[in-house]
Amino acid sequence: MSDKSRFERRLLCIGAGHVGGPTMAMIAAKCPRYEVTVVDVNAERIGAWQSDALPIYEPGLLQIVKQVRGRNLFFSTDIAGAIDKAEIIFVSVNTPTKTFGEGAGKAPDLQYWEKTARTILEASRGGKIVVEKSTLPVRTAHAMDRILNSNRKGIHFEVLSNPEFLAEGTAIRDLEFPDRVLIGSHQTPEGGAARDALVEIYANWVPRERIITSNVWSAELSKLASNAFLAQRISSINSISALCERTAADVGEVSHAIGLDGRIGNRFLNASVGFGGSCFRKDILSLIYISETCGLQEVAGYWQGVLAINEYQKRRFVQTIVNAMFDTVTDKRIALLGFAFKKDTADTRDSPAILIARKLLDERAVVVVSDPKALANARLDLAGAPADRLLFEENPYHAARGAHALAILTEWDDYRSLDFQAIFDSMAKPAFIFDGRNILDHEALHGIGFNVFPIGKPALTHL
Ligand code: UDX
Repeated sequence: MSDKSRFERRLLCIGAGHVGGPTMAMIAAKCPRYEVTVVDVNAERIGAWQSDALPIYEPGLLQIVKQVRGRNLFFSTDIAGAIDKAEIIFVSVNTPTKTFGEGAGKAPDLQYWEKTARTILEASRGGKIVVEKSTLPVRTAHAMDRILNSNRKGIHFEVLSNPEFLAEGTAIRDLEFPDRVLIGSHQTPEGGAARDALVEIYANWVPRERIITSNVWSAELSKLASNAFLAQRISSINSISALCERTAADVGEVSHAIGLDGRIGNRFLNASVGFGGSCFRKDILSLIYISETCGLQEVAGYWQGVLAINEYQKRRFVQTIVNAMFDTVTDKRIALLGFAFKKDTADTRDSPAILIARKLLDERAVVVVSDPKALANARLDLAGAPADRLLFEENPYHAARGAHALAILTEWDDYRSLDFQAIFDSMAKPAFIFDGRNILDHEALHGIGFNVFPIGKPALTHL
């Protein structure tokens, strides 16, 4: 048995998902003097974290986990025991959109958060700092405070909001070199002390000027607003892409010109088949719900527009496919290259590919789903679809064989360097390619003989 008392601090994270796992691995790597434990109700997930087949794919993650696991990073299912030992508890449980009752389809479902708060309360014999890592609606910390501090044990919990801004696929870099770390605390002496304790942890590797503090509500709202602003940029450029396709404009040229304005900046301006992922839609829905409950209909309507354009962009992509292929895709084989919501992740949550695959199946196409990492999730997402019309094929060349069309739905780097001449030769003719990420060399593809349909650029056809 290792001597655990050698550690200066004991940190715990409840929730071993995309945020909790990587964040705690980074803290453990940067702070060898702290004991970091990650717990989860899901024993299988914890087992995976203890193995070399981690439950999430994230470049560089396994390396870090291997370096610290068993040294000062531990995974466990003993939630109560770990709570009692910890001084600082990060809570990173999921907050999906509610599917029932008041606020269904908009409000976040806080049942896991509340259950966690009650578990913390039950298992604690002394006061603790509880850090919200999950994205929560504004003023959730207040509810947590009430649950935690309505105890008869005479112990005090201090709740902080420390939203996580990492993006999937780049989590390790984002954690190691964050643009900022945001810590919201109550403006009381106890709140200030708890904030300082958390600042001290991050200061082990994050420059002080990048660690910013605010009140709890500002921190909670900043997270929702950040994701809403990022999503809004994508919907803005996607709305322009539709206009480009009706005119002679090229969305790549337009976004280049817009992005050179220093006030706008050039990142996050790639027109696409639509945004996906576990955060953007959920957080905007949450923002809409809060705005509505505050009676701010115009504010709610503004953000609703960002979501509406995203749905429109996905539908529009399917319409382009059907229209280009002589208004019918029935019994035509269409290979979807990419199913993850972005490259370098196996995550398919809210991926545009889900709706696109379903709509093509509704049109009675034969859909072949290909992805280097996400096929297991894709199978779950498309469960219930007619088995004779839905195939899964990891190898893109095999997926394309005999296909009438290819649709690029995820910007995996490998797709850029496929042998498109060989692919063209193996396809049914006329061969179509719909580049939902604008990552391919469209002129070259046209030269090979493809009918090429990019997003927001003129189609290049032989028809
Ligand atoms: C996002 C935020 O970036 C992150 O800060 C937050 O903590 C969680 O939500 P993530 O969902 O992992 O991260 O991925 P992100 O890189 O933001 O991409 C979201 C979606 O937008 C993807 O589907 C991506 O393909 C799409 N996207 C992104 C575009 O369509 N165009 C772009 O220019 C950028």
